Amino acid sequence: MSEKTFLEHIQKGYKHQGDEIVLGASIYQDKVHSDALVRLPLKTFNRHGLIAGATGTGKTKTLQILAEHLSHKGIPSLVMDLKGDLSGLGASGTQEDFIKERHQKIGVEYTPNAAPLEFLSLSEEKGIRLRATVSEFGPILLSKILSLTDVQSSIMAVLFKYCDDQKLPLVDLEDLKKVLNHCITDGKEEIQSAYGSMSPVSVNTIIRAIVQLEQQGAAKFFAEPSFEVNDLMQTREGKGVISVLRLIDIQSKPRLFSTFMLSLLSEVYNTFPEKGDLDKPELVLFIDEAHLIFDNASKVFLEQLEAIIKLIRSKGVGIFFITQLPTDIPQEILSQLGMKIQHALRAFTAKDRQSIKLTAENFPLTDFYNTDELLTSLGIGEALVTALDENGVPTPLVATYMRAPMSRMDVLSAQEINEITKQSNLIEKYSKEIDAQSAKEILSKKIDEAQSEEHQKQIKEEHKKASKTVKKKSVFESMSKNTMVRQIGRTVVREITRGLLGALGIRSTSRRKKWF
Ligand SMILES: Nc1ncnc2c1ncn2[C@@H]1O[C@H](COP(=O)(O)OP(=O)(O)O)[C@@H](O)[C@H]1O
Ligand SMILES: [Mg+2]
Repeated sequence: MSEKTFLEHIQKGYKHQGDEIVLGASIYQDKVHSDALVRLPLKTFNRHGLIAGATGTGKTKTLQILAEHLSHKGIPSLVMDLKGDLSGLGASGTQEDFIKERHQKIGVEYTPNAAPLEFLSLSEEKGIRLRATVSEFGPILLSKILSLTDVQSSIMAVLFKYCDDQKLPLVDLEDLKKVLNHCITDGKEEIQSAYGSMSPVSVNTIIRAIVQLEQQGAAKFFAEPSFEVNDLMQTREGKGVISVLRLIDIQSKPRLFSTFMLSLLSEVYNTFPEKGDLDKPELVLFIDEAHLIFDNASKVFLEQLEAIIKLIRSKGVGIFFITQLPTDIPQEILSQLGMKIQHALRAFTAKDRQSIKLTAENFPLTDFYNTDELLTSLGIGEALVTALDENGVPTPLVATYMRAPMSRMDVLSAQEINEITKQSNLIEKYSKEIDAQSAKEILSKKIDEAQSEEHQKQIKEEHKKASKTVKKKSVFESMSKNTMVRQIGRTVVREITRGLLGALGIRSTSRRKKWF
């Protein structure tokens, strides 16, 4: 095919009405064509994306380029930094010769620029501590994460209902274990008569699953104050704030990471209003080293993720996975990713060659490239790209010579990270863990009280009164004057089993806030 035909093909395929990000220039017959730029329409960033390629081919830099340009256009993003190599987003890049040369070839000016950052963490790393309460997490999500059976999940659901009814806030995993234990010991009669029987074997299995989750560091995650996802939507001086979640120590804790991922996505789904067709995304999430969430992921986790990915689009939220091989990502999820930025792949083994073939087959057909061959011969900072145009039609497959990040390609020093954390508007809000009166304390107190003599007397008296009205009152009812144990029966069970969205709905009704 002639160069002229190629140029026309790319110019036409990458012409958009609305705003866009210029990723780089097209490559054809070993030449970089500055007159056929690769432009990504902002409008379809909510159709999700994939950045793939072998180690060292430029995936993380591509993520950096997308996040900083989104920021520049006022769009905030959340990047999951699993290797600690994204902090450079917070400082300006430098006019080095190789960068200038790259930009000259592309024909776009290089303007060093820093993006406003907020550091977040799930552990002791610098930044805002992300937490969620058990109540907010909700019974269904929790059951999924704990890989509970249907029977065990329904116990969990009833338990949440009981805690709602009794105004027992479930903040941390200690609360949950306490209530579970209570169901088969002191509170057995009272709870099971109102909510149905619960097998001690099942309850103990749930407790063991919770202990396992705690062993991966989840105890610290379930606490107050919980993170409000609207805080991901900050802008400063017109620029979108990039929230960099430092997850360097998460690699050995895949369950904690997937717990967090699901809770975050469902919270975003719950909180953000329906947006319909937007000209640009509201928020974009980048998950670097995404193979970590897919390795050994349970079937339910993948189903939940797939469902959320499909639904979250209409909230204006895009999710980008960054991983080595597209085959790291389950086919159902892969097919939801509209933008594909494929860096070079290496063909060492037979399996590699098979992956390359499969990857090539998944790209749109092209008259201009031999996709298989190109996949192994792309240079660093080059990629095969296809996106969705504003009508949702795939853009032509194009080999792209990528621009360099405007921000620093290296990491920030500890001191620079400190400076950024100091400037944070949110650090104060989330700095202290709240040791709230939650289910564990309340239950312990109630049990103690119930066992005290005075209370025994009081209960006897109440029993006398109650026998007159033929209605037997429970220990809990007699103690908590303003709450009544409600019969739940079938309706709740129906609510509980109505699937993912139902789960999210239930979760929001059991929010702590409503209880006080
Ligand atoms: N767009 C780019 N412009 C200039 N250099 C790049 C670009 N992309 C990658 N590089 C170079 O390649 C190195 C590796 O890139 P990186 O994104 O960390 O790879 P990966 O995440 O795929 O392992 C970078 O440190 C940088 O020197
Ligand atoms: Mg990387």
